[in-house]
Amino acid sequence: MNSILLQKLSMRPRLIRVHGSYLVGVGTVIILVFYLTSPARDSQENETAQDAVHEDVTSAGESEPDLNRYIAFLSTLKLLVVRHPFERLLSAYRDKLENMRIGSEHGTAHFYLKYGSRIVAKYRPGGNKTHSRSLLKPWQYLRDPQLPEPTGFEPTFKEFVRHLIDVDVVYSDDHWIPFYLFCTPCLLKYDIIAKVETMLRDQVYVIRAAGLQGLIRPRWRHRTYHDEGKHTSMRYFSQLTKQDVKRLYEKYKLDFELFDYKVDDYLQYATGK
Ligand SMILES: *[C@@H]1O[C@H](CO)[C@@H](O)[C@H](O)[C@H]1NC(C)=O
Ligand SMILES: *[C@@H]1O[C@H](CO)[C@@H](O)[C@H](O)[C@H]1NC(C)=O
Repeated sequence: MNSILLQKLSMRPRLIRVHGSYLVGVGTVIILVFYLTSPARDSQENETAQDAVHEDVTSAGESEPDLNRYIAFLSTLKLLVVRHPFERLLSAYRDKLENMRIGSEHGTAHFYLKYGSRIVAKYRPGGNKTHSRSLLKPWQYLRDPQLPEPTGFEPTFKEFVRHLIDVDVVYSDDHWIPFYLFCTPCLLKYDIIAKVETMLRDQVYVIRAAGLQGLIRPRWRHRTYHDEGKHTSMRYFSQLTKQDVKRLYEKYKLDFELFDYKVDDYLQYATGK
């Protein structure tokens, strides 16, 4: 174990601590799970990370100090997980606003009342009397056949983006507030800034840095049911004009610059006038 690293880490104030498994849901909920190395884990992926850690330790015959070491490490690490700013916005939109029928665990009714209904009242000609489907071409959105269709009262991605362009993002919801306001990366000294896009590689780095290789192996889950990637972004961003994309970029520019993301692809996806 690299004790120097751990000492240094533990002197700093903790930002986020979720015992056992852990950390950082900014935008969509990201759950990182470091499994302890042990054969035949994969069949039991539905356990909580906490249980998995415990059982692995015992089943692999690891000693209690190893478990303590693991938990000590996780609880002192200041880790920020970032994601492409536009992917984060799209994911928040799809999870919270696009379909109020997808259920209470996503809080969609709350999001409709608090944001969706107001966005539609403001940005849709004719307000909620116009069905969202009539505003879009079928290739401009994605539906999961397992889920009920949206009611049609929900805002489109375009309407959501127009809203973001107009509001003061300082006061916006945690799901779409820019990282630079939410996580104050300029004020807090993070030990690690990891990216969703390179999560496996970044975890390997974290594990090596902590001297925990051999004890835990990297793994991660991203808790959204839709993860179709680039293809999805193309569909939704095709609802926007290049000017919408540029304006949205201006609002989130600091996030792009801080974490080295590019806007170019999204400008290409825009098709509207
Ligand atoms: C979780 O795993 C256990 C045993 O591994 C199994 O009995 C149970 O049905 C699983 N639950 C779900 C929801 O998959
Ligand atoms: C539709 O808009 C009207 C007028 O703004 C409002 O009274 C009504 O509650 C809205 N319906 C829904 C389902 O949001």
